[in-house]
Amino acid sequence: MRRIVLITGAAKRLGATLSRSLAAEGWDVVLHYNYSRDEAHALSAELKSKYADRDFPVVQCDLSNTDAVLSLFERLPEGYEVLDALINNASTFNSGTIEETSPAFLRKEMEVNFEAPFYLLQSFKNSFEKGCIVNILDTKITTNEASHAAYLLAKKNLASLTQMAALSFAPDFRVNAVAPGPVLAPPRKSDDYLMKVVGKTPLKKRVELSDIASSVSFLLNTSSVTGQIIFCDSGLHLL
Ligand SMILES: NC(=O)c1ccc[n+]([C@@H]2O[C@H](COP(=O)([O-])OP(=O)(O)OC[C@H]3O[C@@H](n4cnc5c(N)ncnc54)[C@H](OP(=O)(O)O)[C@@H]3O)[C@@H](O)[C@H]2O)c1
Repeated sequence: MRRIVLITGAAKRLGATLSRSLAAEGWDVVLHYNYSRDEAHALSAELKSKYADRDFPVVQCDLSNTDAVLSLFERLPEGYEVLDALINNASTFNSGTIEETSPAFLRKEMEVNFEAPFYLLQSFKNSFEKGCIVNILDTKITTNEASHAAYLLAKKNLASLTQMAALSFAPDFRVNAVAPGPVLAPPRKSDDYLMKVVGKTPLKKRVELSDIASSVSFLLNTSSVTGQIIFCDSGLHLL
């Protein structure tokens, strides 16, 4: 049976991994991007070359533009109007303590990391009859580290929304989340930055991209699970 998933921030990094892995599992993947137009089209072509019987359309949307987010599902390509799953993966990751956070900065971080996933999840429920949503969080939601205060507060809200929506949207929709630990160094940071975090994990192990993909796949395929947050983080949330 045909299954369609939309992945936000699908063109690069973790989003591209999730796109490849779900395509390999037989999903039709709608690839969302904002600036990474070339990468999104290249990934679409790569997937089409492997799975010729399916298409992998791309959709552009700036997730800080609320009107564009609210109308995203009305702009899905022909044949892809009804989604079976949504992966809220896109995010910004900008540093700033509470003291440093300006109104404009707080708004922007909330728009992309919390409001856009909120409105996409809401639109998904209002547009389709059933389905599955997976929100990508961050293992640091268990902490009160304030170096990326706005980002982390947005992810904490998204964790709460995951459980609230799981209860509210049952029985026809399941809503779950994956909270990754150190997978990839943030853009513009070296691997040394990542390895310092890896060193703090109980398992002393960088989180494999494929482990995040397996966690997402488990949540999509396991029909009795809702409101769950999988910490795929080499044990970091235990500290
Ligand atoms: N990397 C890690 O180790 C790690 C650790 C913990 C949690 N996570 C979480 O895992 C997810 C993926 O991580 P990542 O490192 O792969 O993410 P990333 O590279 O920082 O960002 C993913 C994508 O988000 C999109 N995005 C950013 N602002 C946007 C906007 N205004 N509108 C639309 N799209 C926007 C970008 O798309 P374009 O390039 O098309 O503009 C970008 O490629 C995120 O939710 C992150 O918080 C990652």
